[in-house]
Amino acid sequence: MSNRSRALPRRSCLSTPGSSERFLAKAPTATTDFSFLDLEDSVAPNEKVASRAKVAQAIRTLDWDERVLCVRVNAWDTPWTYGDVIDVVTESGPRLDEVMLPKVQQASDIVALDLLLTQVERNAGLAPGHIGIEAQIETARGLINVEEICAASPRLESIVFGPADFAASIGMPVTTIDETIHDTPSNPFIYVFAKILMAGRANGLHVIDGPFLKVRDLDALRFAAGISASYGFDGKWALTPDQAIVLNEVYSPSQTMFDKSLDILDAYRVATDKDHTGAVMFGDEMIDEASAKIANSFVVRGERSGMKRTPK
Ligand code: GLV
Ligand code: MG
Repeated sequence: MSNRSRALPRRSCLSTPGSSERFLAKAPTATTDFSFLDLEDSVAPNEKVASRAKVAQAIRTLDWDERVLCVRVNAWDTPWTYGDVIDVVTESGPRLDEVMLPKVQQASDIVALDLLLTQVERNAGLAPGHIGIEAQIETARGLINVEEICAASPRLESIVFGPADFAASIGMPVTTIDETIHDTPSNPFIYVFAKILMAGRANGLHVIDGPFLKVRDLDALRFAAGISASYGFDGKWALTPDQAIVLNEVYSPSQTMFDKSLDILDAYRVATDKDHTGAVMFGDEMIDEASAKIANSFVVRGERSGMKRTPK
């Protein structure tokens, strides 16, 4: 909903446990497009309630620069969701951009959060619709319903794949989420990536891949991230600042692609505006309106990431 955060890149989405004052204090120093402060699975049950105030204080008092700032609340099948939303949104002030809802099963999960946010925003003196929503798809049911979920609220900004909970939900025979998942001939993530991407794009959402758990192996992360990047995903979760640095690279267009895309747009503009032709040769490639659309998506992505054209 927030136009500010909607327009920002999300190549790297850094997770920080909301129970740890030490990690919360360090999070703003990471080079990441997006930070989310977690109240869900990285926080022990007996720390859940106390973590709300720590998260809100970190949002209010630390300098988060321009990045998108989000809190992940607990899912609707726990006792904590409404308390998380009321306490954190009320206490955080306007710097909080989004709430992330995990384990979304159906559109009504999002509608319920939207309604709750509407009241909380009003009582907290925030502009109506200030808080955006991220929906995590991490169960078989959530995946089946992802199309209606992505269309459930104008507050939605991103749809996010949660591979660890998803692997558990579908009974995948794995004990971690690492690069080897992509090597198996029966890799179900191919279907998952395509389905989430289509549902997200059909509704104008950012589409984000989830965590990579072998945190010390940055080469393996680069390989795994390259797969969702090749589908067109916008970014991926980072569990450490070092992972974020790799992801900022993987999900940016290369300088060569960025420059080529700008050249294609120039050539297409000359063809249509000056020469009145719809299709034209660009080197040894034929380009037309569709090529210009592809090029434009690279330019938008590159510009969002702060890229500049190489001077000729
Ligand atoms: C993230 O929440 C995951 O379950 O992978
Ligand atoms: Mg999860």
